[in-house]
Amino acid sequence: MRIKNLNLKNFRNYADERIDFGVGLNVLYGKNAQGKTNCAEAVYYLCTGTSPRAKRDKQLIRHGEEFAEISATAEGRYGNLEISAKIGETGREIRVNGNKITRNADILGNLFAVFFSPHELRLIQDGPDERRRFLNVSISQLSRPYYIALVRYNRILEQRNNLLKEKNLNTVYDLLPVWDEELCKYAATVARQRADFVSRLAPIAADFHRKLTEGEETLKISPEKKYAGNEEELKKRLYNELSNNYERDIRLGYTASGPHRDDIDIEIDGADAKSFASQGQTRTAALAIKLAEVEIFRELSGEYPVLVLDDVMSELDLPRRKKLVGLTKDRQTILTCTHAERVLYGLETTKIRIEGGKVKK
Ligand SMILES: Nc1ncnc2c1ncn2[C@@H]1O[C@H](COP(=O)(O)OP(=O)(O)O)[C@@H](O)[C@H]1O
Ligand SMILES: [Mg+2]
Repeated sequence: MRIKNLNLKNFRNYADERIDFGVGLNVLYGKNAQGKTNCAEAVYYLCTGTSPRAKRDKQLIRHGEEFAEISATAEGRYGNLEISAKIGETGREIRVNGNKITRNADILGNLFAVFFSPHELRLIQDGPDERRRFLNVSISQLSRPYYIALVRYNRILEQRNNLLKEKNLNTVYDLLPVWDEELCKYAATVARQRADFVSRLAPIAADFHRKLTEGEETLKISPEKKYAGNEEELKKRLYNELSNNYERDIRLGYTASGPHRDDIDIEIDGADAKSFASQGQTRTAALAIKLAEVEIFRELSGEYPVLVLDDVMSELDLPRRKKLVGLTKDRQTILTCTHAERVLYGLETTKIRIEGGKVKK
């Protein structure tokens, strides 16, 4: 898949710009606060229907304007794809090839991109929240059933937590068994697909990691041990776990187990990376995981996703930068950085200079 152009109208600091992308490596460069990340954010929005950093869509609208509009033309194995989003103060309208999309699930799976930012490079150092977010964003793009199960799971979980908070002992023991039946059905889908995804990711990530470290370290990632078994078994186990812990959950006022609390196991040279690895080691491992994600996207969707690398160069040492650029050589990549030249010496690239929300010719 390749994005041919991106149009930004009253989006963040862009008034009205069109950015044309080349097939291979595209380098968006310029000083700080000029609009490079905004551009990456627009691509992310068209892929996922959400911004990676704004809490509310409203923030995406250029100050003083009423609407923001972003659109992209992409070329995939099924031909051209037009995707657009018009974002207003009170709502939005998303169109794929001109057709209005009414359900969030229909936004996903049109434009495929994998994102890298300094944020993602902290995938291992940061808490389990970040790793679950990684899994959710990634698997949702690839699997509609996952996305739907996740949304339903979260909805029932919220209701369950509200019930627990009320601590109304007359109703809580009657309602929990009924609600948990439904909750565990979706939980099992989420857990099963996460386990499959991580198992697929593991050998590919290990391979990239070997390349990045020149075979000096080994990376081993594995899904939650609790996730063994088929969906039916998972559902039963989760149900029992919840049933055995009603008192605990009522006392706490929230649900203390389930996929919303789970994690990925990550080991470097046999030791738990989250507690023992250095910053450099965790970044390299995160990079390997993200590169593996790109391959999984290709495996499952049949084509390479667009790779968006926002500001990651400054976080990596020179050998790693070179390796990263080398490993992504024949895929469309949109890379933002402040100094274009240093990293990309000798490579054929499309260079795009961004200044004050404008493309400088
Ligand atoms: N809604 C908005 N309206 C106008 N300008 C905005 C809006 N949101 C962010 N900006 C501006 O965008 C700029 C930041 O752009 P960003 O893409 O993060 O920069 P960088 O080039 O460093 O990646 C800042 O100048 C910020 O004030
Ligand atoms: Mg930036």
